[in-house]
Amino acid sequence: MNEDNPFYDPLRFERRVPPCIVAIFGANGDLARRKLLPALYRLAFERRLPPGFAVIGNSRSRMSDDDFRSTMRDAVKEFLEDSPFDESRWDDFAQGIFYVAGDVHEPELYPELKSRLADVGRQRQTGDNVLFYLSTAPSLYEAVVDRLGEASLSRGEGWRRIVVEKPFGHDAHSARSLSRGIQHAFPEDEIYRIDHYLGKETVQNILAFRFGNGIFEPLWNRRYVNHVQITAAETIGVEGRGAYYQEAGAIRDMIQNHLLQVMATVAMEPPSAFEPIEVRDERAKLLRAIHVMTPAEVDANAVAGQYGPARIGGEDVPGFRQEPGVAPDAPTDTYAAVTLLVENWRWAGVPFYLRTGKRMPKRVTDIAIQFNAAPHRLFASTDGDAGPWLRPNLLIVRIQPEEGISLRFLSKQPGSGMKLRPVSMDFNYGASFGARSPTAYETLLLDVLAGDSTLYTRQDMVDASWAVVQPILDVWASRKFDFPNYPAGSWGPKAADDMLARNGHSWRTS
Ligand code: BG6
Repeated sequence: MNEDNPFYDPLRFERRVPPCIVAIFGANGDLARRKLLPALYRLAFERRLPPGFAVIGNSRSRMSDDDFRSTMRDAVKEFLEDSPFDESRWDDFAQGIFYVAGDVHEPELYPELKSRLADVGRQRQTGDNVLFYLSTAPSLYEAVVDRLGEASLSRGEGWRRIVVEKPFGHDAHSARSLSRGIQHAFPEDEIYRIDHYLGKETVQNILAFRFGNGIFEPLWNRRYVNHVQITAAETIGVEGRGAYYQEAGAIRDMIQNHLLQVMATVAMEPPSAFEPIEVRDERAKLLRAIHVMTPAEVDANAVAGQYGPARIGGEDVPGFRQEPGVAPDAPTDTYAAVTLLVENWRWAGVPFYLRTGKRMPKRVTDIAIQFNAAPHRLFASTDGDAGPWLRPNLLIVRIQPEEGISLRFLSKQPGSGMKLRPVSMDFNYGASFGARSPTAYETLLLDVLAGDSTLYTRQDMVDASWAVVQPILDVWASRKFDFPNYPAGSWGPKAADDMLARNGHSWRTS
């Protein structure tokens, strides 16, 4: 499929971006300011974008091109992650930035956008290739795609693509209806549903680790793996996003998308080729193989939590219900933990525990593959301590903030007798490569511009993920939880510990 695409590089060493315009809806919003513009600037800084490149921003605020450039300059300076801001490179890049003001509901916006796309396209020689980026409030997605279709903006001489940000729907039903709306205007292979976790270097490295090496894959199954823990813990609260978060909750915000995609990457079968169709087919198959809970199974396999106020490091931290924009009786989950089972030969009976929470004691995203203990305790009589046997081999894939992989194993303690102690072998990105890693948005923007959808999700994957969380959402919607049930700064509600304890397991906290 990609052989006809001169900008597609199957070896993934370099992306070549064709001339094009990126048209961003919601261009004055948080995502554009914090992530999209800094990523585009950084790509320009590294000369990864072609001379024929432009950005057209749209939002409701009345602004000139110059006003928009100056707002974006401030945003890029503020939010560039670990890289320098270069005034002269910015000035070059900013010459290709334009702005069209207007409410996405107003039909007049679209003819204006069309003529601006044509003008800017001529001026910057962008070959009529346009990427639309939906970075508005999700409730506006359908209106924008409908109007783009009606105004024939979704078709042209060059290519037309659209990136859709999460949340992709509010539940299984709304996700399907949104999808139908978008597919009405754009063909499926031009729709890019973004999940920024798939663009993280460390998540991509799971594929390299599993399928680029010969020694791990033979162990990667129910015979050797005891269970898997996937954790995404954040120390922050809802940071001014109370109104959005109150409607979403942790399971929709993190598990339905990011953590299920990470799980799919960890557990999928080896694809036959590193091509978009093959990789996405395997991810989708894995998501479909996750056991969909019956309502009766939900209580034993899913835990909801909400943080309450606490005093941390001498400071008073508000509870979720005291955050701005949040109702004093909000029933929202700010913590969610689930036990998932995969119904296939490789994983039958191996629990995958996923958890995420706001206001946890530390920021950490990692995957822990817990292997079975050695089948025979050869040293049990001499080590005189059962402790180490309770800590069998553990492989930790550290997604962030530390990036790397560690393998824990038992080793003989120096001295007489056979006393064993767990030690660890570590790979650390910074130490091994030295170079700065691109941010997830840099990677994913480059991919969509080059027409590579490998790291984007597909409608069948979105549907399968909703199918997994929907029964939990349904049961939780009818429950009255006794919230708050964990203090800010702690590892979540006790019920989450109990859930693992029933299987003889416990959450890692270090
Ligand atoms: C977003 C969620 O998708 O991911 C946020 O909406 C969350 O609530 C964020 O904080 C986490 O992303 P990262 O890259 O910081 O782990």
